[in-house]
Amino acid sequence: MKENENILNSSESYKAYMDSPYMSMKHDSYFHVYDYLFRKYKNKNITFVEVGILQGGSLFMWRKFFGPKARIIGIDLNEKAKKWSEYGFEIYIGSQSDEAFWQEIRHEIGPIDILLDDGGHTYDQQIITFESMIDNINDGGLLVVEDTHTSYMSGFGPKQFTFTNFCKEMLDNINQRFGGFNARYEEKRIWSMEVFESIIAFKVDRSLSNIKSTATENNGLSEDVHEYRYSDNVSIEIFKSLAKKFYYFKKYRILYSIFIKIQSHLATRNFKSKKFFGRN
Ligand SMILES: C[S@@+](CC[C@H](N)C(=O)[O-])C[C@H]1O[C@@H](n2cnc3c(N)ncnc32)[C@H](O)[C@@H]1O
Repeated sequence: MKENENILNSSESYKAYMDSPYMSMKHDSYFHVYDYLFRKYKNKNITFVEVGILQGGSLFMWRKFFGPKARIIGIDLNEKAKKWSEYGFEIYIGSQSDEAFWQEIRHEIGPIDILLDDGGHTYDQQIITFESMIDNINDGGLLVVEDTHTSYMSGFGPKQFTFTNFCKEMLDNINQRFGGFNARYEEKRIWSMEVFESIIAFKVDRSLSNIKSTATENNGLSEDVHEYRYSDNVSIEIFKSLAKKFYYFKKYRILYSIFIKIQSHLATRNFKSKKFFGRN
């Protein structure tokens, strides 16, 4: 506990949180994540949006953390949150799971540097907020979703559509940008995704995420060397050389599928990392 306190006291966002005159509730593991993600935006002319602000405390925390130049916007379903506009915050009332609400306010809000989702934490709320607002995030900006542990709890939506399952699809779709693939869908709206305990952050950089990768080579000297990449799984190595030699197998579909099945069986049998799967 003492150790936790020392770690917390070294966090700038934690200090701002403790100094807030109104109530805010955050998990203690979040503060160093905020520091790490948000530090570079301090004392800048940025637009920061937080979804879920009813008690008001976090609005004051962000104002203190980012400084007076920041435009701080709060969104909540509860009408009562409107009162925070008296303190210089911009407040919008509506539901984050309502696409029409976002449609209505996204032009008024305009481009955003950081959107932090600390609303109701259901999968629909998290996913619809992401889908509705990701195109409003500036290049170099962030969309950060908090309390993603709800994906492992009941009462937040259907289990096949958890927020973390949505992120797993995103991970797959980011990798579809690889130049050798010709996928139906590539994720180009975000450049990267970073995972912390209970927080997932998406970084937006359109020029980087629109690169269709191609192989490059430098002009260094090259020797004729053997590629050892597959030599630690003999079955893959054998398969690769057989596949090259017997490429015409492909025409004989049944024969080829037997060949593939044998190869995949042998590759799995010799796969050393099996023990690192299924830890939970
Ligand atoms: C966890 S609290 C927010 C805490 C606050 N960010 C803080 O740090 O103290 C969740 C907030 O989300 C709001 N909320 C719940 N469902 C919502 C929805 N569908 N749309 C917008 N806000 C919602 C609630 O009214 C509540 O104020």
